[in-house]
Amino acid sequence: MAPASAADDRPTVGWTRKHLLGLRELSAAELLAILDTAKGFAEISTRSIRKVPTLRGRVVVNLFYESSTRTRLSFSLAAQRLSADVLDFQKDGSSTAKGETLVDTARNIEAMGVDVFVVRHGAPGAAAVLARHLQASVVNAGDGAHEHPTQALLDVYTIRERLGRIEGVHVAIVGDIGHSRVARSNIWALTKLGAKVTVVGPPTLVPARFRDLGVDVCHDLDRVLPEVDVLNMLRIQRERQSHLNFPSIEEYSRLFGMTSRRLERAKPGVVVMHPGPLNRGVEISPEVADGPCSVILDQVAAGLAVRMAVLFLVSTGAAREQQGGARDPEAAGGPAQAPRGGAA
Ligand code: CP
Repeated sequence: MAPASAADDRPTVGWTRKHLLGLRELSAAELLAILDTAKGFAEISTRSIRKVPTLRGRVVVNLFYESSTRTRLSFSLAAQRLSADVLDFQKDGSSTAKGETLVDTARNIEAMGVDVFVVRHGAPGAAAVLARHLQASVVNAGDGAHEHPTQALLDVYTIRERLGRIEGVHVAIVGDIGHSRVARSNIWALTKLGAKVTVVGPPTLVPARFRDLGVDVCHDLDRVLPEVDVLNMLRIQRERQSHLNFPSIEEYSRLFGMTSRRLERAKPGVVVMHPGPLNRGVEISPEVADGPCSVILDQVAAGLAVRMAVLFLVSTGAAREQQGGARDPEAAGGPAQAPRGGAA
């Protein structure tokens, strides 16, 4: 969908929600609505004036209780490209140190007239809790090991741009699957859109129960390597492990790290992805990360368009609810008005 039409008062086909809390609950039509809207918004970044007035007068707050570079900055830039005002909350230096709870903090910020909360928190379900307590829209920017929906959306967007389709594409997600919100959100999005997914890593990081999500589980990267179209190399999340779940980083890297030599066994044209931040030399070598198969920086660029689309769509969902349209079952009522269109 082009921004010129995306930015007017009409509801986007396939989208009625006021929040984006995860991809598990979304239909394929809703996922496609986000991807198609993002495709339209991507064009804005190619213009000489890279801004539209779609969310002028709205306020977006980044409420980040965990560190972030890509997600926080691209949500900020996405909101600014849509002409929204942006507030940045980071836990360090905030009154959280004085004992203020997540909900109290958010309700106090909402009292300043905030329309959209973009939330990153270490607790699974934190965004959903806020959606129940706030009138504003809530977007999950990562909640513990539960979901990171906009990361998966930008991953799927990047695959579609590179390969021209999602249906039938075989994606291997390699690494610390058990601790990964990125893996979970990717699994929901890719399987709903008809991709084949194999999760790969040592048994201690890739539990067999993931088969229940409709994916293949493999503990031998070299066996699956020649079969896949996309390799999504995940970071070992030491911050979510009380101890290493494998003998050593060196052994993990030898068995599951993507090097130029290992990549020779992959299909021609294989696409190498990584959500960032990279552990160079652990899950991916510098040669592969910076090489011709890598789309890592394309993923970052896609994140801007995807996050513009998400901010726009949840605002239309809030407006729809306020106007008495179909209610988002997660919604608790919203103050937002429909966004206006045209060039800035
Ligand atoms: N991929 C990702 O979420 O990166 P940040 O932690 O830097 O936001």
